[in-house]
Amino acid sequence: MAGLIPQDFIDDLIARADIVEVVGNRVQLKKAGREYKACCPFHDEKSPSFTVSPGKGFYHCFGCGAHGTAIGFLMEFDHMSFVEAIESLASSMGVEVPRNESDQPAQRYDELFSLMDTVARHWQASLKEHPAAVEYLKERGIDGPTAKRFGIGYAPDGWSNVLDKFGKSDEATERLLATGLIIRKDNGKHYDRFRDRLMFPIRDARGRCIAFGGRVMGDGEPKYLNSPETVLFHKGRELYGMYEARQAIRHIERLVVVEGYMDTVALARNGIDFAVATLGTATTSEHLNRLFRLTENVYFAFDGDRAGRKAAWRALENALPQVREGRQIRFVFLPDGQDPDSYVNEHGADALVKMLENGLPLSEFLIQELAGQVDMETIDGRARLAELARPLVNRIPTGVYRELLIESLAERVGLTAAKLAKMLSAGAAARGRTSPAINATAQRRRQFAARGGPSVVRRAITLILNHPEAGTKLDGEKLAGVQRAGVDLLAALIETVQSEPNITTAGLLERWRHDDKGRHLGKLAAASIPADEEFDAGAELQECLQQLELAGRKERIEFLIEKQRVTGLSDDEKSELTQRH
Ligand code: UTP
Ligand code: MN
Repeated sequence: MAGLIPQDFIDDLIARADIVEVVGNRVQLKKAGREYKACCPFHDEKSPSFTVSPGKGFYHCFGCGAHGTAIGFLMEFDHMSFVEAIESLASSMGVEVPRNESDQPAQRYDELFSLMDTVARHWQASLKEHPAAVEYLKERGIDGPTAKRFGIGYAPDGWSNVLDKFGKSDEATERLLATGLIIRKDNGKHYDRFRDRLMFPIRDARGRCIAFGGRVMGDGEPKYLNSPETVLFHKGRELYGMYEARQAIRHIERLVVVEGYMDTVALARNGIDFAVATLGTATTSEHLNRLFRLTENVYFAFDGDRAGRKAAWRALENALPQVREGRQIRFVFLPDGQDPDSYVNEHGADALVKMLENGLPLSEFLIQELAGQVDMETIDGRARLAELARPLVNRIPTGVYRELLIESLAERVGLTAAKLAKMLSAGAAARGRTSPAINATAQRRRQFAARGGPSVVRRAITLILNHPEAGTKLDGEKLAGVQRAGVDLLAALIETVQSEPNITTAGLLERWRHDDKGRHLGKLAAASIPADEEFDAGAELQECLQQLELAGRKERIEFLIEKQRVTGLSDDEKSELTQRH
């Protein structure tokens, strides 16, 4: 409920927070020039690429790309919620967090965590008293040590076991409700969510129980019942077994993503400690962030059926923005009717590992899937393949990986890589209002302009992030009508620094935290910008804006002229053209 804390208080807090102190209290930092360095706490590394910049108020890892402000650091490292991080920072600085009117008392997270932990241990103890549950686990090949390692427990049958034991006061009942352990009926009465189920605690990065998955014993619906989304638990972010994997493995070299709780547990039982499961959801980009922070090698193991292929495709789509040289992503499809759990029990760990190693590389999977949708024997079919690949390839960051993928695609469609690359990027530039007939010329024109284009926007954004004060005098109107990647973001940044003249680099990053572009901004903010007296960020910015304005105007004229030639102009467009010309 970030909105309840006034934004200017947050800006101010970030501006005043000492990032070196916040990080330094948790990670050993070494001074290096104006900055501080350390081995990155978010991924394994031997030489320090984690940098803390007191001037800019944020940290950045050149190895894994992790970055953020003091607040972001507390959220990531101490696994706090946004509000908790603000509160922690404020209290360390001795200030009170003001609240807007529509305020509710802040959730007492520590109490909720401790309740979850108590209940988890209670169910673990109860497992031992229910031989049928133990027997079920044994039948599924899970031994005592493995069950213990994953904290597996048993919730006995009955409508109010948890309610009676842990909900003795109104506050306690509220906490049970907040963690999703009980459900409120229309008549205001409550009952236990989990009854006669095998319980799998879902743990966060620090090992705290944040949710449960409960499996029916034998048949029954639903097979798995999960905790609802709560303040502690956000399904799309968590990976079951991540904490356990980190406990078991010092340097995680690879991770395999499976679909089910039992897959993770069964693999661990068979010595494969690096399996994590999504919780009945698609693989999100947040999942991928987490995975790639720990390792460069990620495997996805899916069922071989249609649903499995579909789930794999979703994972691929979300992974595209994160593929790059050095990262390996492979897709493994299990034989019909098998999942990793049944496969490992039948064929053993070595066979499964071998299958992972022989999995389809992401590029191969992508091409295979698309090739399956067209007739590769015809020229039309192959052209269609290139067409289908376009939006996907364009999601991959430029770099060696993308080049290589374009090369293999080109080979399949029978074009040179250069020609295909042109087709692919032309597609990206031509998206928008142009009609197909206008495309060819406009595309050529745009590709040319684009050479100077994005870098100007990029430069302007970098400048404004590093010198927010320099943006306060700009004329943002100049950008109106300029059609170029990143211009919207630039305009929004200008607007922000103008309405908050005291905002810092970190303050800006914090505002864009929840935005897809936040990742991007961190990198730009980390760029080194000359800091000498001579350098005038304000003037540089003016220059950038002028260039953009000019380029935008030119492009519009070119467009109108081209349109005039091909389809003719509306009256408005005609007068626009005479005015501009
Ligand atoms: P599966 O149906 O493939 O089950 O669901 P499984 O993992 O093989 O389970 P076992 O081996 O029969 O015990 C895969 C995952 O989808 C989610 C769970 O996270 C499960 O592990 N799921 C499935 C649910 O959340 N609810 C359900 O009813 C079923
Ligand atoms: Mn299964």
